[in-house]
Amino acid sequence: MNRYPMTRLRRLRNKEAVRDLVGETTLSTKDLIYPIFVTYGQGVKKEIDPMPGIHQFSLDMLVTEVKDVQSLGIPAVLLFGIPSQKDDHGTEAYKADGIVQQAIRTIKQHTPELVVIGDICLCEFTSHGHCGVISDNQIDNDRTLELLGEMAVSQAKAGVDMVAPSAMMDGQVAAIRSALDKNKHTTLPIMSYSAKYSSSFYGPFRIAAESTPSYGDRKSYQMDSRNSREAMREIEQDLNEGADIIMVKPALSYLDIVATAKTKFTSPIAVYNVSGEYSMVKAAAEQEWIDEESVILEILTSIKRAGADMIITYHAKEIAEKL
Ligand code: PBG
Repeated sequence: MNRYPMTRLRRLRNKEAVRDLVGETTLSTKDLIYPIFVTYGQGVKKEIDPMPGIHQFSLDMLVTEVKDVQSLGIPAVLLFGIPSQKDDHGTEAYKADGIVQQAIRTIKQHTPELVVIGDICLCEFTSHGHCGVISDNQIDNDRTLELLGEMAVSQAKAGVDMVAPSAMMDGQVAAIRSALDKNKHTTLPIMSYSAKYSSSFYGPFRIAAESTPSYGDRKSYQMDSRNSREAMREIEQDLNEGADIIMVKPALSYLDIVATAKTKFTSPIAVYNVSGEYSMVKAAAEQEWIDEESVILEILTSIKRAGADMIITYHAKEIAEKL
């Protein structure tokens, strides 16, 4: 029976220690993945305008950054690269000495314990900024799959610990799994951006990664924000293709998707707290309109509560010390 005055739900809220005992959700630094942008050059640590506190790093500057990340207890980083040259086929994405491949080697050399996850997508590397190659004015899904497979293998050879395909091409997980397995990387896990929505919350990232499409949008491959059942089909398909971890992205406008996925699937779920979500917090905090630290904690806790097993977030470093 759940009736006043016998039931007084406030009883368990009176003391902080009791609130902690009954707390249903715990946020830990061990759940966090920190995205890092790497670029060519020497001594580069360039702040991204709409993302205060987040930088593009050249390889020499990357070393201090990853040591910092590791000493804060953050277990993993997610790498994005800005190539020296872009072309139609995103060639630098799968070159043995591409910027991301070099960054992987650098990190593995200086902080071997840190888990390095490589984003697998062509958009930072193509001159047109789309996530796949283009034939006859269309994204060529199946030709793109081969290149994504090559990209994953080249990162695996460089020593990456996990790959994260984000191009939203049909069949990308199967293509990457088979390319990896053919090259004897059978134990390398795939974290698939399964339910990745076409979202305006990626705006600041595209400035950071210099990957804004030069024409059109990503609606022919990324999901429509009106759909939720379709997300379950995407996830199911990725699991059937061999995904080890599935992802929902963005986070805050899609927590219903996270919660539903949690009840339907048993695989670990990653949630990406994306750039626009970060920028909005930073902008409001800058104006002193919100209490930044408590807002960040509330956001990350809500993502956990919805069902995330891990969170990719630009807030990782600043919040690690507070947890
Ligand atoms: C690459 C990719 C994007 C993000 C992660 N991987 C951008 C996009 O699809 O346009 C967005 C991350 C963020 O906004 O923080 N395809």
